[in-house]
Amino acid sequence: MGANNTNLHEARLAKNDEFYTLLRDIEAEMSRYLEHDPDLFRGKVVLCPCDDPGWSNFTKFFVDNFEVLGLSRLVSSCYRAGARGFFLDMTSAGSEEGFLQGDGDFRSPEVTALRDSADFVITNPPFSLFREFAQWLRAGDVRFSVVGGANAITYKDVFPQLQAGRWWLGAESPSSFIVGGDGPQRGAQFGRGDRLFQKFGNIYWYTNLEYSSRAEPLDLMTWEENVRFSRRAQVRGVGYDTYADYDAIEVPYADAIPADYSGVMGVPISFLRRHRPEQFEIVGVLKGGRLSRGGRAPFARLLIRFRQGGAAGV
Ligand SMILES: C[S@@+](CC[C@H](N)C(=O)[O-])C[C@H]1O[C@@H](n2cnc3c(N)ncnc32)[C@H](O)[C@@H]1O
Repeated sequence: MGANNTNLHEARLAKNDEFYTLLRDIEAEMSRYLEHDPDLFRGKVVLCPCDDPGWSNFTKFFVDNFEVLGLSRLVSSCYRAGARGFFLDMTSAGSEEGFLQGDGDFRSPEVTALRDSADFVITNPPFSLFREFAQWLRAGDVRFSVVGGANAITYKDVFPQLQAGRWWLGAESPSSFIVGGDGPQRGAQFGRGDRLFQKFGNIYWYTNLEYSSRAEPLDLMTWEENVRFSRRAQVRGVGYDTYADYDAIEVPYADAIPADYSGVMGVPISFLRRHRPEQFEIVGVLKGGRLSRGGRAPFARLLIRFRQGGAAGV
């Protein structure tokens, strides 16, 4: 790619970064963590490193709930290309706003030091830098919840973490975002008041924070029982489809996983919400798998199998 193309490409990616998370999506996800542990944030430091304190709903959520959550400190910092970044630093003693030394890039020594003094990193990072962001989270060994696209599951700094059950998907999925000033005007957008929203599919929270339903084991039926009783039309009465080019069965919903099957199964990405490494092994990802009965499995499937002794003992 020539220099101009590279610049254009980067500009296009950067435009895709200007989507802002809705407060209700942040509240929905955070309340799932708090349901599991109401004292999760008590006495803790939260960093929102891609968040303009003036308008980020992440900042708003933690400022508004600072006392209820019992936070000890909130830092919200934002990047400004070619200029000094901006921050808000709030403690129970009061809050301070000001300019950072550098541009506020999350990878800068300054923001990295903030990461190192934080207990939690919570944000929606730039989509175009999600790879680097995941790497940065790993290097910081920090607790986090961050918004990201489904394609990130295959990244080399993400997949092994999911596979090992160290990271998983959050409880909810944000579906629409506020479009920033010069963000792209295309796709499934709709206006309300003076704001423009964009709908996205396949956006998740990536996290290492526990939430209530994760603690519950999947209640699974055998192959036979699924064929007779599954509430999924793709399985009930017809059994499981297979892939034309890969030796595995297609399981369209995690609740239709046959408890007594020892081979490889393709399951939806959202299975990662309930993945327990002691029960299942994740062997890979299958993108756009061709189905033997015709058509393709949607987007991507995780390939999993029961660990020996992990099946429901049938
Ligand atoms: C997807 S937006 C989300 C903003 C905000 N967290 C929210 O959810 O409303 C990502 C933000 O990261 C900012 N950003 C871009 N590059 C960055 C960098 N290197 N370091 C920190 N933030 C960056 C973008 O300007 C953009 O505002």
